[in-house]
This record gives sequence, structure tokens and C-alpha cells, in this order.
Amino acid sequence: MKRINIALDGPAAAGKSTIAKLIAAKLSMIYVDTGAMYRAITYKYLQKQKTEDFNQLIDTSELSLTYDETKGQRVILDNQDVTDYLRENNVTSNVSYVASKEPVRTFAVKKQKELAAQKGIVMDGRDIGTVVLPDADLKVYMIASVEERAIRRQKDNEERGIESNVEQLKQEIADRDHYDMNREISPLKKADDAVTIDTTGKSIEEVTEEILSLVSDIS
Ligand code: C5P
Repeated sequence: MKRINIALDGPAAAGKSTIAKLIAAKLSMIYVDTGAMYRAITYKYLQKQKTEDFNQLIDTSELSLTYDETKGQRVILDNQDVTDYLRENNVTSNVSYVASKEPVRTFAVKKQKELAAQKGIVMDGRDIGTVVLPDADLKVYMIASVEERAIRRQKDNEERGIESNVEQLKQEIADRDHYDMNREISPLKKADDAVTIDTTGKSIEEVTEEILSLVSDIS
């Protein structure tokens, strides 16, 4: 199979990362979770008492992704593995704000483009098909009802030992989507040439198969 890049975008908790990991494993590609980069910068922003100097925050940040055989993608920020802190509620509730800032986006998008330059990447996020990889070989826009996304996220959280409430998650997901879709710089939206997959009521296997069949159509 020729080396390709796959862009997977969509709103919060639509199942993008679960599916992206499976697709990457099946096709021997590398999975890049771009949300984790924005979460890492948010983690630092919180440690800096919510500094508003985003230029300085970025200028003093060293961010890289590494891959662990068992644990998958790890995020290294200023020589520290911060991956385990990135799903904390405080990070989640501030990440859309931080990700809307120009220095933060310029920094993250540059790194993401570099990672994808050699191809063989499945990348998930909000602006992958529109901004980061406008030439991706396949673009998928994954959606699901807010109810289902909140329930899935609660299960995820449970597995990570994070307590959460479905009604609160619904609100948090809807608010984050609204913010991400309405920000000035590269808002969340479907690329014109992306295929929309509504995963509501579908199993992980069904969605994975659907995407694999789209991949075989292009390769
Ligand atoms: O995918 P995840 O939920 O971890 O993303 C966290 C947040 O990071 C999103 O809500 C969005 O604000 C931001 N993000 C982004 N662009 C991306 C990936 C994530 O703005 N490519």
C-alpha cells in the first residue's frame, strides 16, 4: 500500500481517538493525537497561574511526542512526561480557550505538519482536514449525538479513575464544541472534501470497518 495520511476531525468525544488508534494499528501507521498538544500547553498555562502572555508561554515551551510500545503516544513538555495529567477536568475546561490563541495554534500546527511530512500518519483533531493536512489522502469528519458522546466519555473517565456526571459532561461537551466551532482561527468545521460518518448507535468495529473500506477505495 502506498504511504498515505488520514485526517480525522470532529467534535469532542466523537470517538476519534479510539478509531484513529485502531486504524493506525491495522494499517501500520502512526497515530497522532493533536488534542494532547493543546492539552499540554493548557497544563502549562494552568501552572503559570493562567498567564495571558501566550507568546512567552510558547517561546519557553519544548514539546515533543514519543511512542511507547504499550502506552502509545506520550507527550513530553519541557523534559517531563505530562501525558497522565492531560485528561484532568481543569485541563479539559480550559483547553478550548488556550487552543483559540494564535501563538498556540501556530506552534502546534507547525509541529503537526512536520510530523506528517513523511506520510503514514493518522491524525485526529479539529482542523486537520482544513488547515494542518489540506492534502490528506482521506478526510473523515466524525459526529455523534451529544447524549451518546457524554455516555462514552463517562465510561472513558471511569476507566481512567476520573469521576464524572453525564448531565455535566453533556454541558461541557456542548460548550466546548460551541467554542471550538466559533473561534476566529481555524474553527472546527468539516472540510469540503471530507466524508461524514455519524457514529451514533454504531459500534467501534463498524466505524473502523467503514473507514478501512474508504482507505481501500483510495489505495
Ligand atoms: O481532542 P481533544 O478533546 O483532546 O481536544 C481538546 C481541545 O483541543 C479541543 O476541544 C480543541 O479546543 C483543541 N483542539 C484544537 N485543534 C485540534 C485538536 C484539538 O483546537 N487539532
